Amino acid sequence: MTKTILITGATDGIGLATAELLHARGLDLLLHGRSEAKLERTRALLNDSPGRGRVTTYRADLSSVASARGLVDKILREEPQLDVLINNAGVFAMADPRTDEGLDARFAVNTLAPYVLACGLAGRLGPQGRIVNLSSAAQAPVSIDALTGRERLSNDQAYAQSKLALTMWTRALAARWGEDDPLLVAVNPGSLLASKMVRDAYGMQGKDIGIGADILMRAALSDEFTSASGQYFDNDRGRFGDPHPDALDPAKVAQMMDALEGLVAKLSG
Ligand SMILES: NC(=O)c1ccc[n+]([C@@H]2O[C@H](COP(=O)([O-])OP(=O)(O)OC[C@H]3O[C@@H](n4cnc5c(N)ncnc54)[C@H](OP(=O)(O)O)[C@@H]3O)[C@@H](O)[C@H]2O)c1
Repeated sequence: MTKTILITGATDGIGLATAELLHARGLDLLLHGRSEAKLERTRALLNDSPGRGRVTTYRADLSSVASARGLVDKILREEPQLDVLINNAGVFAMADPRTDEGLDARFAVNTLAPYVLACGLAGRLGPQGRIVNLSSAAQAPVSIDALTGRERLSNDQAYAQSKLALTMWTRALAARWGEDDPLLVAVNPGSLLASKMVRDAYGMQGKDIGIGADILMRAALSDEFTSASGQYFDNDRGRFGDPHPDALDPAKVAQMMDALEGLVAKLSG
């Protein structure tokens, strides 16, 4: 049976390149975006190119936990089959990162929304399913105050902290989940790949974005990731490796998980 793959942030950059690659393989795609116009453009692009799979689009602003929760509910209602979740949507630079829920949008999009999607969709993904979380080579010790919206950080710091927090919960959930749950893996797709995030942040064109799409397709489908639950794949080195040391420190992971889970519970009301 054809696999069904949900990609968040599929309207640009690595997410779009991955969608094109998977579409060409004939897989069924659930494409998430935050802009209806960009979703429409993405759907038209894929439908104009060779590929046999179904393309369905979902809109949600992932800087809101409530909206991420709404996306989970909609997918559970409308999609009886889900095999892979690629938590790709991410944000680096923002003029005003404060959200209506009192969070820092960099943490909301890069750390919290993927967590809400992973937990909410784990049952639908099941034991053969996979969750691929987009980490980064940029990882920095997490300030709990920043994670919970009480401290304002620079773009660099917020991005690196939010990506380490994502990498930490990937390991923590994989350790906690059992044989009925999906596999979880954190992937640095490669640094400075040619996306608008890299253009906006560093003013450079960047490297072939296909490098990122290729590793996401492998993480989603290939046997080399079958036993990789909880691990971190560093595509700058082309292999699994250790993330930032804080992700290997049980006390720091427990403290971050307490804060993350408390925040999500509070905002889920
Ligand atoms: N490029 C790199 O070198 C690199 C390196 C390491 C990790 N990464 C990670 O790879 C992932 C993809 O990044 P990219 O480089 O392809 O950047 P990108 O081109 O800026 O794409 C980011 C995607 O996330 C979506 N997004 C941003 N904020 C959102 C929100 N509030 N709600 C819903 N969707 C939102 C964007 O939507 P729009 O299309 O509407 O803008 C876009 O589709 C990110 O998680 C990034 O951190 C990238």
